[in-house]
Amino acid sequence: MDIDVTVKIGKGVLPTPTGAASGTFGYGDEFAGLYDPSKLGAVYTKAISLFPREGNPPPRLTETPSGILNAIGLANVGVEAFIEKKLEFLLKQSFATVVNIAGSSPDEYVRTLCRLSDSGVWGFEINLSCPNVKHGCLAFGTDPHHVENLTALLRKETDKPLIIKLTPNVTDIGTIAEAAEAGGADAVSLINTLLGMAIDVKTARFKLANRTGGLSGPAVKPVGVAAVYNVSRRVKIPVIGMGGIMCADDAVEYLLAGAKAVQIGTGNFITPGLCDSVYDGIVDYMKEKNLSKIDDFASLLQDA
Ligand SMILES: Cc1cc2nc3c(=O)[nH]c(=O)nc-3n(C[C@H](O)[C@H](O)[C@H](O)COP(=O)(O)O)c2cc1C
Repeated sequence: MDIDVTVKIGKGVLPTPTGAASGTFGYGDEFAGLYDPSKLGAVYTKAISLFPREGNPPPRLTETPSGILNAIGLANVGVEAFIEKKLEFLLKQSFATVVNIAGSSPDEYVRTLCRLSDSGVWGFEINLSCPNVKHGCLAFGTDPHHVENLTALLRKETDKPLIIKLTPNVTDIGTIAEAAEAGGADAVSLINTLLGMAIDVKTARFKLANRTGGLSGPAVKPVGVAAVYNVSRRVKIPVIGMGGIMCADDAVEYLLAGAKAVQIGTGNFITPGLCDSVYDGIVDYMKEKNLSKIDDFASLLQDA
């Protein structure tokens, strides 16, 4: 049986459903040689902002039971250095280059996206959800009006796939997803990290200089799966699922819950070739269950 693993997002097609999540795979080049690019659907870049950002002071990462807390604070090279130094490598690859954009104001998002609109990138993932920037995007991602307005502003500027990345740090993530859809998004991706904190009891100090950080890894997977299940029933646009994917079965769980594609984040830090084995496992599962396309996953889920 022929298996079609491609995924349509707006006017674009991802060659496979597996992607490397923003912030965990650099700009693709850092992992070169450690993965098979032909099995990867997309690299979602580290967040790019209009100007370079140093991010938060260290320590910025700490391990927690079944996860990590990070407060990187959107450290990145800025859009000009990204175009000059990082883009050439990415554009030579068979996978889609999805630029994750962060900003402190709607104007910054629009200017960054416009700077990249003719650069040959496949599409954009808009990070409305980073919990680590004090005056930044958390406000956008938690307010449906802001989300709809910003999505509509960005939609006017590009025909390329526009993916809005959602924060789980809200009362009802479905409402935010509906706002992104109303603003003209081609897809939503979820979940970003969950707001968390860790304190060293010996020193009575915060483990992160920023005090709070974003929780990711296996600990967040049930939150992500539930969010994908909820959102995929609230919007018609495709849902891209992530959070705690550490093996192929985790990715299949997201696809059964309603995702059309997945992203692997924290798992890359433990197993740099994880995207390959997740892809292989998805294909094996499709063969075993006689699924010919990614859309078939959703109908496999039993009611009880
Ligand atoms: C160190 C680190 C940096 C991250 N940076 C970004 C980022 O720049 N933009 C973004 O949208 N998400 C960022 N994320 C969130 C991930 O892309 C992903 O949504 C989250 O970690 C959940 O997936 P996971 O459990 O597989 O890691 C970052 C996560 C980690 C661990």
